[in-house]
Amino acid sequence: MSKETNQQWGGRFTEPTDAFVARFTASIDFDQRMYRQDIQGSIAHAKMLTEAGVLTADECASIEAGLAEIQSDIENGNFPWSIELEDIHMNIEAALTKKIGLTGKKLHTGRSRNDQVATDIRLYLRDEIDNILSEITRLQQGLLTLAQAEADTIMPGFTHLQTAQPVTFGHHLLAWFEMLSRDYERYVDTRKRVNVSPLGAAALAGTTYPINRQITSDLLGFDRPAENSLDAVSDRDFAIEFCASSSILAMHLTRMSEELVLWASAQFNFVNLPDRFCTGSSIMPQKKNPDVPELVRGKSGRVYGHLMSLLTLMKSQPLAYNKDNQEDKEPLFDTIDTIKGCLRAYADMVPALESKKTEMREAALRGFSTATDLADYLTRNGMPFRDAHEVVGKSVAYGIEQNKDLAEMSLEELQVFSADIRADVFEVLTLEGSVAARDHIGGTAPNQVRAAVARGQKMIDAR
Ligand code: ARG
Repeated sequence: MSKETNQQWGGRFTEPTDAFVARFTASIDFDQRMYRQDIQGSIAHAKMLTEAGVLTADECASIEAGLAEIQSDIENGNFPWSIELEDIHMNIEAALTKKIGLTGKKLHTGRSRNDQVATDIRLYLRDEIDNILSEITRLQQGLLTLAQAEADTIMPGFTHLQTAQPVTFGHHLLAWFEMLSRDYERYVDTRKRVNVSPLGAAALAGTTYPINRQITSDLLGFDRPAENSLDAVSDRDFAIEFCASSSILAMHLTRMSEELVLWASAQFNFVNLPDRFCTGSSIMPQKKNPDVPELVRGKSGRVYGHLMSLLTLMKSQPLAYNKDNQEDKEPLFDTIDTIKGCLRAYADMVPALESKKTEMREAALRGFSTATDLADYLTRNGMPFRDAHEVVGKSVAYGIEQNKDLAEMSLEELQVFSADIRADVFEVLTLEGSVAARDHIGGTAPNQVRAAVARGQKMIDAR
């Protein structure tokens, strides 16, 4: 390192930064991924300064051309990233000055890295939210298509992971669809608070130049300039909110994963995960492991962790900008990467899921899944529900003893428990009768599943 002090802010310093401190305080290793947003923000700022009469049109044109060159240098791998220049903002500014000379030094007029970095993160996150939204839609489309194909497939529904009542597989998939619809809305809502322009807040108090914050806000596609300069440079709750929305989505993905892992096991044997989404064991030749759902389940850990990191990072921070905030980027970026990876894996995998209809059906036949239907049958014939519950409980106990499901008992056997049971009882004891009877909005009947698919399709088509 040279004996000179830092070329961007070294005026008042008498010795160069300690070599370790330079590395310790630098963010260039992780903030360089915001290079496009940094350049975009600088161009908007330069244009606005030109309209305000602070820069000449020639100066602005030269800044724009220089920044465009820098962007292609970065994209072609020809950019000399420097730790001494600390972060993406100073790396680009120094490169600009090197390219276009003195005019490059005018770019930072009326601006600070504090409003610059807040602008960059918001632009970056806004784009990534849009990418996440389209991946959620792709996954939801896969679920809708599969739910339509599986509208008549019967499986056991569970509570407490004990067989409860028969449901259709399509209905189960649509429960996942609903979780994702709420996740989608949460990101759309988060995006509103991300899409606000901090530019012009400068270091913390605003600037003495005749800037026009509306111009930069419009040029960058923000909804409006942030109201308060102190808040604009220090607010990171938009990032916390993004991590919270992501944590809830990650939690939903763990629930789906858990079910897929269970269903793919020899014990459940409800689905086949295509080989390309699984791996084998190096020692047990019979193994086909559901790695993708397992890994997605495990990745929730880091997403929740990043939410905790950001909450803790912001806790007790006095206004306005503090260097603590440099620590916002790695958790935020890793959350983005993790969520995109999980969604991509799921959106690719879901359309390839194969249900094992015979096995699902057999499982639903075991476990007295139509016991509630028998109780409802007795109630329709005049018996109070509590008494009907008791009667069916006794017939189930008999069935366990005899190793027979309700539908496998003879009419005579059933009538031992209630004389009100007639031959028509077998219609309600079938799996098809049971699911078809739950025929109302949100119910598991196959025609309700098809109607819900149609509504879901209309909803995602309107996005
Ligand atoms: N690299 C810094 C960050 O990520 C940029 C802002 C630095 N501002 C400052 N005054 N040190 O937050």
